[in-house]
Amino acid sequence: MPFLLPELPYDLTDLSPFISMETLEFHHGKHHKTYVDNLNNLIPGTEFENADLETIVRKAEGAIFNNGAQVWNHTFYFESMSGDGKRKPSGALLMAIESSFGSFDNFMEQFMKAAVTLFGSGWAWFVKNNDGTLQITQESNAGNPLRKGLKPLLTCDVWEHAYYIDYRNRRADYVRAYWELIDWKVIEERF
Ligand SMILES: [Fe+2]
Repeated sequence: MPFLLPELPYDLTDLSPFISMETLEFHHGKHHKTYVDNLNNLIPGTEFENADLETIVRKAEGAIFNNGAQVWNHTFYFESMSGDGKRKPSGALLMAIESSFGSFDNFMEQFMKAAVTLFGSGWAWFVKNNDGTLQITQESNAGNPLRKGLKPLLTCDVWEHAYYIDYRNRRADYVRAYWELIDWKVIEERF
């Protein structure tokens, strides 16, 4: 069974003005789709022909890993946002954030710093460690924390294709806009 491009959980105009319809048309309709198509072309005849996506992310190398992880990462990224979501965590997740980072504001600052300072293309991640503590990490290119046994909770795509149409080279402005779109109900469910 080939992998399919997942539908966005909102309309193309729902994230405006923070992320435009044109960005979503390219980012989801072209970039994300290309990773899906590449993966479907790469796996026939390999040990990953019938593997699920998470197995590919955990075990594959080279082009199969790169395209498989980009499919997984983009689905996770797009599903982290909504036009009218919960704009701040509460309950157990908020308590865990405050325990690991001191305060929600400090956590926000550290996450944004990780996204803005990551050199080149990649992903800023908010993850749960095996001991239940929370951590912010950076991964280059298609990197995914599942490879290190960590549980991803949230990610910010800082490949230029995520922001160049709306923000040109101003990555920090894009990261601030992304922050406004996070649906913390989704992140709480992952936690
Ligand atoms: Fe992307």
